[in-house]
Amino acid sequence: TYVVTENCIRCKYTDCVEVCPVDCFHEGPNFLVIDPVECIDCSLCAPECPADAIYAADELPPDQAHFLDLNAELAQVWPVIAEARLPLGEADLWVDRGEKLQYLER
Ligand code: SF4
Ligand code: F3S
Repeated sequence: TYVVTENCIRCKYTDCVEVCPVDCFHEGPNFLVIDPVECIDCSLCAPECPADAIYAADELPPDQAHFLDLNAELAQVWPVIAEARLPLGEADLWVDRGEKLQYLER
């Protein structure tokens, strides 16, 4: 599976969802996750993310390893998003800031 990581939080550019052939992205208030059961590992989404927030599970940076379980958990409760929206209003201010998990809204 592919995994959305910390740099998506408070940005949510949503370019990723446009290319997913199986609509396996799920949307929360300020973060997206990938359903690991549905993802077919096509790899199309990763290069689309302006925040470089998407990784293959086996290539996750060590400090992002906990996002594997977080994607699986939240994909079960958040609705599918299949079409891009406008990014969050302050996306360009928050991208690449780091330490954003504390701001995750569920
Ligand atoms: Fe969708 Fe492919 Fe990305 Fe998986 S790797 S989330 S199937 S675009
Ligand atoms: Fe998030 Fe990147 Fe998609 S910021 S919404 S993973 S394009």
